[in-house]
Amino acid sequence: MSSHPVFRDGLLDGQVGIVTGGATGIGLGISTTLAQLGMHVVLASRKPENLQSAVENIVAAGGKATAVAVDVRDQTRVQAMARQVHDELGRIDLLVNNAAGNFYKKSEELSENAWKSVIEIDLYGTFFCTQAVFPYMKAQGGGRVVSTSMTLHYRGWPLMAHATAAKAGVDALTRTLAVEWAEHGIRINAIAPGPIPTEGVRKAFTPPPGAPVPDFFSVDKAMDVFAKATIPLKRWGTPEDIGQMVAYLASPAGDWITGAIFVIDGGEWLAKSKTGM
Ligand code: HXC
Repeated sequence: MSSHPVFRDGLLDGQVGIVTGGATGIGLGISTTLAQLGMHVVLASRKPENLQSAVENIVAAGGKATAVAVDVRDQTRVQAMARQVHDELGRIDLLVNNAAGNFYKKSEELSENAWKSVIEIDLYGTFFCTQAVFPYMKAQGGGRVVSTSMTLHYRGWPLMAHATAAKAGVDALTRTLAVEWAEHGIRINAIAPGPIPTEGVRKAFTPPPGAPVPDFFSVDKAMDVFAKATIPLKRWGTPEDIGQMVAYLASPAGDWITGAIFVIDGGEWLAKSKTGM
């Protein structure tokens, strides 16, 4: 693979990492960055079609990647995944709990199933995957877990009761397991990404069919104006911004870091606190 602009070539050579939800969006940025640095990445997600093309792209660029189809809500399947990765690749150095689900919905209208789906993917899934890699990391004398959190629960965030509750739980797990498993050399950290313009975000900026739109309107321009108005560093984040933090935590530079939650958002949530936007 081509050289990384920040980290040295081969920084993560010989390491094996699992990235849940690693085939799309932020997860793909994380997987790609780790593979660029020599890690063998195992992309784990529900959708085989996404997995296959992501693996092919990483391998075509000279990286090492394989895929496992798994729903992180299924504890038995998650345990089988960890066993399979260990059997095939001999170790598990890193788990990135990136798989997540959410949608905006009035709390009073959330059905039991809707609430449960998000809590089970974001919180149960994070716990099941982390618990599943524990025996392998313990046996090899250490490992790293990086879970994806968010910043929305730092304040009240209407219409996101399910996701904010789940991610607050992820933060709690991060701190608790960091202390509980430190004796095994397992570092547990979390990242809280800010706005990354995934397809869903672009869709939110795209006027519905038939809406009156002036000739000069463009989705890219509208998104740029929004970023300049709401993000102190005046740009959207990229999957690579997030991937680089994970690479840092997976590297020896992260040796003395555990129980930490890193906000990577261009200052967005602090500015929101100030302006209420
Ligand atoms: C309202 C929804 C919904 C939506 C699902 N539900 N999607 N309600 N709006 N967009 C409700 C369904 O009606 C159903 O309840 C219940 O949730 C389960 O939905 P299913 O589709 O049957 O289940 P499942 O396949 O398990 O869906 C998982 C999901 C879904 C998370 C609920 O939305 C999904 O797969 N989303 C794609 C992944 C995703 O959201 N990624 C974003 C991650 S980014 P009923 O009562 O009808 O049975 C992220 C960063 C946060 O998390 C940043 C926030 C700004």
